[in-house]
Amino acid sequence: MILDGKSAAADVLDECRTAAAVLTAAGVTPGLAVVLVGEDPASQVYVSSKVRTCGELGFHSRKIVLPVATTQAELLAVVAELNADPAIHGILVQSPPPPHINEEEIIRAIDPRKDVDGFHPENVAKLVLEDPSGFIPCTPAGCMKLLEISGIPTQGAGAVVIGRSMIVGKPMALLLVSKRANATVTIAHSRSRDLPAICRGADILVAAVGRPNMVRADWVKPGAVVIDVGINRIADPTRKSGYRLTGDVAFDEVAPLCSAITPVPGGVGPMTIAMLMKNTLQAARQTAGL
Ligand code: GUN
Repeated sequence: MILDGKSAAADVLDECRTAAAVLTAAGVTPGLAVVLVGEDPASQVYVSSKVRTCGELGFHSRKIVLPVATTQAELLAVVAELNADPAIHGILVQSPPPPHINEEEIIRAIDPRKDVDGFHPENVAKLVLEDPSGFIPCTPAGCMKLLEISGIPTQGAGAVVIGRSMIVGKPMALLLVSKRANATVTIAHSRSRDLPAICRGADILVAAVGRPNMVRADWVKPGAVVIDVGINRIADPTRKSGYRLTGDVAFDEVAPLCSAITPVPGGVGPMTIAMLMKNTLQAARQTAGL
């Protein structure tokens, strides 16, 4: 089974559109601000896609693009202004920022009630505590939603997450081990001894490393569910753009072995944006005391 993230995301976005109309009728239009510092081409695509989706759902949005030379103080000032803007319920600063920016400090400066990325320490704590008032990072939340919509059970399953980032790996592992999902979770990473053997033990394998085609056929247990979070640009002169997207999983050799697998593109990617919209709705509702 190929897990169709586009179609699952469309279902989530339909729900968001309806919910946004209800909120707007009650006098609260959900608002999202997306901040991009610099000109990273992949980030430009992601940011535009987030803002476009806001428009399609009837959300208010602000797209703030700052030059690569923006200082830490200037970026903090933008965050402070957005924290104070009552029309903005969600703030997202696209990652990664240029190297001179201290991302940790920027994340801590965002009002945790507007932190729709779920990166602020207060929201990280709420994820650990399984407190539903917190925001769950969009990519792992999207992976969980895709499993749920696809009818893939996690209860008692053995899950392996490759990658330990704050954006995907760690929150993904926490969601899988939560009292809702009840998986048994291993977090593996670049320093893990015998990574292929660890992965071969997985009923559910989540690859979030950013290394194209790293997961090969002999890393996967026959019948496993494989979630590929990687979005890697590979040079491809036959394409007009000059590149194509590939995941962290060698799809062609792994897919025949799996009971289910996400494609790249069209798997986890669309789910991430859908969950961002869901988080923005949650922020708008919570701010309005609804
Ligand atoms: N860069 C890649 N994924 C994400 C994300 O979910 N949020 C932000 N802010 N930046 C990202």
